[in-house]
Amino acid sequence: MKNLADVGLADVQSVYSGREGQLWELVMGQQIHVGGFQSSMDLAERAGIAAGTSGVDLCCCSGAGMRFLVRFRNVAQMQGVDATPAMVELGRQRTEAEGFTDRIAFTLADACDTGLPAATADFVWGEDAWCYVVDKAKLIREAHSQIHGSKFLAEYWKLVDRLFPGGYARVFEQIQAGDGSAVEFGLVFVEVQPYYFRSQYHRTRLIRMLKHARLSSLQAERLKRVLDLEHDKKMKRKTYV
Ligand SMILES: C[S@@+](CC[C@H](N)C(=O)[O-])C[C@H]1O[C@@H](n2cnc3c(N)ncnc32)[C@H](O)[C@@H]1O
Repeated sequence: MKNLADVGLADVQSVYSGREGQLWELVMGQQIHVGGFQSSMDLAERAGIAAGTSGVDLCCCSGAGMRFLVRFRNVAQMQGVDATPAMVELGRQRTEAEGFTDRIAFTLADACDTGLPAATADFVWGEDAWCYVVDKAKLIREAHSQIHGSKFLAEYWKLVDRLFPGGYARVFEQIQAGDGSAVEFGLVFVEVQPYYFRSQYHRTRLIRMLKHARLSSLQAERLKRVLDLEHDKKMKRKTYV
């Protein structure tokens, strides 16, 4: 990715406070991004933005994207953040004129350091503006901190449950009850070692349970091979070569 070291937030604020900002709107309309309305609709569709949710728009400009989400996706609440005072002021006026003040609010701040309370939003929105932000890693951290933790966990468990036949908890119950296909699934899992967030924890738990499960002689041999490999790995970590 290319960075222009001598261009920063002050330059962006100056552009969007003056004629150039107005020119962008003249060319592109209130939604100052490539593709306009259709692009926002496509993005909302792909991101699964649902009615009744709440979101944060980082670099919201005059808030056209938030008014789009409220009007066309029936989003319940939007919180916009932008660093250019003229744009925030314009956004507040337009939002009031369109009757959305109870659903759309603005904060004047750097998108990397919004000062908003953490974990309150269902989603974070941004269109054609994050390219301006110099510290992208900080921006992403800030965006991530805005999203509701339980929402992330719910998505996570939805995916994990799809990986374990009948769901994560059920597989453990079935292994404990001696169910042959659950035992076989557990063995394959520990052999294949799928890699995802917390997968090592799931694998360790499965190994512990398989040690106490009723296995065929072939399955016992396969588990022993896994345990031997684990032992070798542990020894290598302890040995200086
Ligand atoms: C192209 S406009 C955004 C367009 C808007 N997302 C839309 O779709 O209509 C760029 C906006 O990003 C804002 N911006 C750029 N860097 C920012 C930063 N670090 N923090 C907050 N706002 C920033 C500017 O003030 C400007 O209003």
